[in-house]
Amino acid sequence: MPFETNRDVLDWYDSQPRALTDEFISEIPWDQVNDHPLHDRLIPVLLYMRDIEILTDMYHQELLRTPTGKDPVISKFMERWGVEEITHGELINRFINEAGYETPRSWKDEIKKSVSAYYHTYARLLTTLTNCVGRSFTATHMTYGTINELSAAQSYRRLIEIADHPVLTHILKGIIREESVHTQFYLNVARLELKRSRFARKIARFVIDRFWAPVGSGARSRPLTDYTVGVLFGDSEGVEWIDRLVTDKVRVLPGFDGMNAVTDRIAEVGRRGLNIELGEAV
Ligand SMILES: [Fe+2]
Ligand SMILES: [Fe+2]
Repeated sequence: MPFETNRDVLDWYDSQPRALTDEFISEIPWDQVNDHPLHDRLIPVLLYMRDIEILTDMYHQELLRTPTGKDPVISKFMERWGVEEITHGELINRFINEAGYETPRSWKDEIKKSVSAYYHTYARLLTTLTNCVGRSFTATHMTYGTINELSAAQSYRRLIEIADHPVLTHILKGIIREESVHTQFYLNVARLELKRSRFARKIARFVIDRFWAPVGSGARSRPLTDYTVGVLFGDSEGVEWIDRLVTDKVRVLPGFDGMNAVTDRIAEVGRRGLNIELGEAV
């Protein structure tokens, strides 16, 4: 897709229909959820994924205070993107409930309230630092977004394999289709932004190499983050999966030749996660 401007990428995004239409959602066979076994060890993973989807809104609000969020094209994208991520969280929560695990009625508020004051202070500090760099930081935001969307989609693919549950597979395939469209937006805008300046490339590479961590770390507890990454990518096959389907796709971006940070960090967190018991994660 040869996009020349961010506006072209947005027009493409706007032309993509949603995968999770009302019709798709109304046809999910909830009554069949309990016809298939679901292993207990996957519940914390589903909760983690659900929480990340819902916390997108918090990230969105943080970004609105930066030049990236004030960009008319990116903010227009984020309006629809935010709505889609919430649907993902809602479907996962419903699945958890149908499988027999109750969640509180105010589960969304509780997720938001459970984010530590430390995280909020840290996020505010980051926003201030970002604003000092200014417009050039947009390339970093978009690269981060690319990695997070790619890794979310691959987490769902791994979950489909590990859970082997037909209803979950059906839901996650719909979610993955939307994550793929999000990936295309971030990836193409990142490419354009990185091409614009050497400074933007330098900062983006520096930040990813030094600070990239699996999406949700910091906003969720460390044992839960480690456990989730351990279940999904804790073995050598999982690490290879991330390298081929996430890191390799980022390496083609300007300034990201030979980047290993994502694979290395997932391998490290996943290894730690293998030592965490189910009871410690929740
Ligand atoms: Fe999502
Ligand atoms: Fe997404």
